[in-house]
Amino acid sequence: MIAMDKIEAAKERFGKLLEEQLLRVEEMKAQGDFINYKELDQIIVGVCGGDGIGPAITGQAQRVLEYLLKDDIKSGKVLFKTIEGLTIERRAEENAAIPPAVLAELKECHVILKGPTTTPRKGDPWPNVESANVAMRKELDLFANVRPVRIPEQGIDWTFYRENTEGAYAVGSKGIHVSEDLGVDFTVVTSQGTERIIRAAFEFAKANGKTRVTAVTKANIIKTTDGKFLDTFKEIAKEYPDITADDWYIDIMTAKLVDEKRRKDFQVVVLPNLYGDIITDEAAEFQGGVGTAGSANIGKRYAMFEAIHGSAPRMVQEGRDIYADPCSMIRAGAMLLAHIGYTKEADKLYHALDICTITEKKVVLTGRDTGATSAKFADYLMETIENL
Ligand code: IPM
Ligand code: MG
Repeated sequence: MIAMDKIEAAKERFGKLLEEQLLRVEEMKAQGDFINYKELDQIIVGVCGGDGIGPAITGQAQRVLEYLLKDDIKSGKVLFKTIEGLTIERRAEENAAIPPAVLAELKECHVILKGPTTTPRKGDPWPNVESANVAMRKELDLFANVRPVRIPEQGIDWTFYRENTEGAYAVGSKGIHVSEDLGVDFTVVTSQGTERIIRAAFEFAKANGKTRVTAVTKANIIKTTDGKFLDTFKEIAKEYPDITADDWYIDIMTAKLVDEKRRKDFQVVVLPNLYGDIITDEAAEFQGGVGTAGSANIGKRYAMFEAIHGSAPRMVQEGRDIYADPCSMIRAGAMLLAHIGYTKEADKLYHALDICTITEKKVVLTGRDTGATSAKFADYLMETIENL
């Protein structure tokens, strides 16, 4: 006996989801162009420490940024603003992915430096609130998740453009248990959402002398949503005749990334949300692990910069947070600098990071008391910059 009432109830919820998504399409259509930081009297940088080791490593990244921007902070051109309350305790208390007061503060900033935040899982002591990252990406419409992976000695220089607001994540926490036995999740694609991420990837390639952009989908199977992504990619590629555009399916792409002969050839990779999530962890692993990677979440009005790893609560429980490696957050900080127009300072920071973590390594982090503290490492980094 098919329970028609259950189907009706599911249809109703599905209808609501579609309404929300169509509204989002209208909002995207109404959106203006990217903000121009040069035209602002003051750039406000919001800093959220997050959970676990977040406050410790974010604090060190902030120190380094404040050091690099000291003149413009003094003149008032740049203002750092600490935003409290993006913590799992507060989120649990208010049963919100981002407490409304925190969101209001975030919206007063132009760019945000964000430490890792705890994403509750089933069985955790916390209510199963949506991930703060995902919520922030949606609330601030940060549609481009840009994740660079560079391993110069192996000839690897990849930039991933992961779509950040749609796909499996758009309504990831709003799937429907139709009956006790049947559950359905949804994946979402829109013309506007797809065009803007693909265009951003090509524009980045064009501006940075890259000669190839690769799309990654599973359009042979997921025909509607991935199919649209791939079709849009092929259309937009025609506007960039000097750039080679090719496409791969996600399964073979994960294999190609471990193929040392072929992987060097990839340059810019653009992909739907979930594939981007998965493949950027794989890619970061070659570079030395997710702890080494920073991530930029860019929208037209706001941008947020974060590490791609989690909050490592065990390190805090064992009292080791002061020894946590702050490089991922510092790299996120370098991306922030470049994004708001401080390219000289960003380059200095990247250069110093190479010296401190690869060529010179006078201060070594081990994640425990056998190595230096994150503060000591940040001191070393600033000294290195001073002497560049
Ligand atoms: C990432 C993370 C997040 C994601 C989690 C923490 C919600 O894995 O930034 O890649 O799935 O996007
Ligand atoms: Mg991830």
